[in-house]
Amino acid sequence: MNICVIGAGYVGLITSLAFAKMGNNVTCVEKNIKKIDSLNNGIPTIYEEGLNDLLIDCLEKKAISFTSELDASVKKSDIVFIAVGTPSLDNGEVDMNQVYESINEISKCINRYKIIVNKSTVPVGSQKYVKDILIKNGVPCDKFDVVSNPEFLREGKALYDVFYGDKIVIGYESQKSRNIMNLLYKPFNIPIIFTSPETAELIKYTSNAFLSTKISFINEIANLCNKVGADIDTVALALGLDKRISPEFLKPGIGYGGSCFPKDTMGLISIGEKYDCPFEIVKSAVSVNNKQRVIPVDILLSEYADIRDKTITLLGLTFKSGTDDIRESPSLYIIEELLKRGAKINAYDPMVSDEIKEIYPDINYFNSMNGSILESECIIICTDWEEFRDIDLDFVKDNVKEAFIIDGRNMLSLDEAKKRNIKYYSIGKGYTN
Ligand code: UGA
Repeated sequence: MNICVIGAGYVGLITSLAFAKMGNNVTCVEKNIKKIDSLNNGIPTIYEEGLNDLLIDCLEKKAISFTSELDASVKKSDIVFIAVGTPSLDNGEVDMNQVYESINEISKCINRYKIIVNKSTVPVGSQKYVKDILIKNGVPCDKFDVVSNPEFLREGKALYDVFYGDKIVIGYESQKSRNIMNLLYKPFNIPIIFTSPETAELIKYTSNAFLSTKISFINEIANLCNKVGADIDTVALALGLDKRISPEFLKPGIGYGGSCFPKDTMGLISIGEKYDCPFEIVKSAVSVNNKQRVIPVDILLSEYADIRDKTITLLGLTFKSGTDDIRESPSLYIIEELLKRGAKINAYDPMVSDEIKEIYPDINYFNSMNGSILESECIIICTDWEEFRDIDLDFVKDNVKEAFIIDGRNMLSLDEAKKRNIKYYSIGKGYTN
């Protein structure tokens, strides 16, 4: 099929490449000319495992192209995916401006029947709203259908998820649009749930809010584990072996971040308020997460009354391993708290982008873990990068003034730290006295 995807961000780019790989003819429309040039030259604009090869493969097969020409791209397409950004407004509501802007532009280019697909995460009721805009803009009803098709891919595992995901959700109204979407997705061989647009839209928020709640739940239990001397890994293992619960998303730490969970939990709370359905559980998940992400600072302050001029090393800045994304990363909140209290910060992240260097120019950035540790007084592990498991504890003992590690992702062993007389604090796996 001829497919147009509007937006070459995370979701837009992965979606475009997935459809191109499956034999469709894809045009991805993007305003940022630098991004277009880079992608047309086979250079990915985000870090994602396997993305480079897939991009080059699709370009070589001429299955995909990147352009800023929305008009021509929409006109030649059977299906138009909207994958533009839907950031949070200050009150938690979703900012739909980019979606509306796209719809207004698409309205001018409907030369024959097309399916317009909401791929971006949008509030419940958006499918109807988008439809109303198209009608208001004078597009005849028989020339389009609007479908809701939320995305469930994880950053870092996006290519795996797009080809081997658990489910595809399609919210539709007309049988014609259902049939075409079925044809498009059938080759992926992933179970498809066909439902109403409102249900599809709510599934996305429900998934992300539930997973966020699972993380905040296990984090509260982990905090108790440290107080009563229980082991969180064993608690989580036993809990997860119950088939009704599953072992996934029970990893304790300094909270969830990224562009989705923080935004979508707030989005669901705001939708709930609109419909007089307050989401007390989701609100609690958010408030637990807000406290959890700065727990390392609380631990530091319980050890030292004053951290002014102390040098603290942060290992990991991204919101999780496998990505270069720092959006809503717990490390940013830790940085803010440390700087507020006059601490000096050393930082090392294997993927750190220039973006954070611009936001925090006063942090000392290092190219190696050991470099960042030298001369510092305490280490905080913020991200679950595998290489942090191999930290040389003898080097830490010899070079970190207070030999103090706060392990926000439970990467290390309490016993190994004890053996070397290193002060160590984990999230639910114990600490040294
Ligand atoms: C999340 C969902 O997992 C995807 O299904 C969804 O499509 C995506 O949001 C989205 O809405 O676009 P993502 O934000 O890429 O994906 O990252 P996750 O792997 O879900 O991790 C989110 C955060 O939770 C990370 O900060 C991670 O460190 C944390 N986490 C995850 C935990 O603290 N514990 C866990 O057990 C799992």
